[in-house]
Amino acid sequence: MSEIVLEGGVPLRGSVGVLGAKNAVLQQMISTLICPGWHRLSNVPDIADVRALMEVMEHLGVRCDLADKELAMVVPERMSVEAPLELVRSMRASILLLGPLLTRFGEAKVPLPGGDDLGARPVDMHLNGLRQMGAELELVHGVLVGRAPRGLEGTEVELPFPSVGATQNLMMAAVMARGDSAIINAAREPEIEDLGVQLEKMGARLSGVGSPIIRIVGTRNLRPAAHRVMSDRIAAGTYAMAGAITGGEVTITGCEPAHLRMELTKLEAAGCEVERGEGWLRVAGPHRPEAVDFATLPYPGFHTDLHPQMVAVLSVATGTSVITENLYDGRFRYVGELARMGADIYTEWQHAIVRGVESLSGCPVMATDIRAGAALVIAGLVADGVTSIGGVEHIDRGYADLVHDLSGLGARIRRQDMNNDDRTRLFGW
Ligand code: UD1
Repeated sequence: MSEIVLEGGVPLRGSVGVLGAKNAVLQQMISTLICPGWHRLSNVPDIADVRALMEVMEHLGVRCDLADKELAMVVPERMSVEAPLELVRSMRASILLLGPLLTRFGEAKVPLPGGDDLGARPVDMHLNGLRQMGAELELVHGVLVGRAPRGLEGTEVELPFPSVGATQNLMMAAVMARGDSAIINAAREPEIEDLGVQLEKMGARLSGVGSPIIRIVGTRNLRPAAHRVMSDRIAAGTYAMAGAITGGEVTITGCEPAHLRMELTKLEAAGCEVERGEGWLRVAGPHRPEAVDFATLPYPGFHTDLHPQMVAVLSVATGTSVITENLYDGRFRYVGELARMGADIYTEWQHAIVRGVESLSGCPVMATDIRAGAALVIAGLVADGVTSIGGVEHIDRGYADLVHDLSGLGARIRRQDMNNDDRTRLFGW
């Protein structure tokens, strides 16, 4: 099995570019289903989740071609409405197929995504919203079978929590529904706005996207569109934190600093110098970070997908930080692995107390999800000696080439097939 192997101790310096956001492109691939024809997405990262969704789309009958960051999709007039279990099992975003398929074809069969590496992750808000729009949904042997023989009806849906996915599912469903819809307490993430822009290019009539109340006037007068996917704020934040922990200076291009307002404020509080420009940002790390408290919250709060990376930075801070995780009960799974590297972290319920230590020491660790993997890499950048990170397939879901990008900044990092002899050589085990 391939692992990421790195030797810590090099301050990162230089410039790194980021591409389109995983959490925007997946939804934008799915939204093409509402309208037949030739759609194009640009700035598309070649990550495992995009490839997996391409397979799902192809199974439905969509022709997909990804080359040189351009994804062309030809959506046919007639297509399958059944998503294949083996392809969607590992991808939670597949629940988003329900809205577009139901609104356009009046039927859909999508296996219910189970829990994943971040915990239970229910989909009740997606289902309740679609039911309010007139869909009949039942769970048959693990598959959500949806019917709306007379199409979906525009209505007002109030979300109990501003769920990103439920907001997106209902936006895509409402665009083609009969009459007017409103999503109250909608999520305000930049990825929602970017989906709104793409849908508008397709002829959808939306207002208030990016605010807590989105209004949509249903229309069947839609056309295919070309759209550039917004930049990946989580990748940009990951590289900022990688630069910060090493005390180096990293410039990140192709990003939107305004999308990282809270996270950059916290990096500044930790002693980093941050410069922001149009489409770029520069982070210079301190000799040693200072402790900072933060709580993850929906946008514009601190993003849960940058929580593990920030904790890696704070694990070597000069004091004690208090972290509150408000989104996922499984988010702290990386803590045990950071502890093996010498981090002093105590977790209780949704809180972590991070007592900064002077140094970490490299050892074999295992990534349990995408961002946990990124956090372990960040910790490895300052750890004494060698760190090897297994579970690289998680990291590949969200980062096109983390190893290449970090080695471009000077990190001593490589990808390597590891066996027990290699481990004995590296760690004396
Ligand atoms: C998206 C992102 C994910 C990010 C998250 C929060 C994608 C592909 N994934 O996930 O990386 O961490 O936003 O910014 O874009 N919930 C329910 N019932 C529901 C839906 C959600 O209880 O029907 C809960 C979830 O368990 C979670 C919270 O609401 O605790 C937020 O989830 P949500 O905003 O829906 O996240 P996703 O869209 O799944």
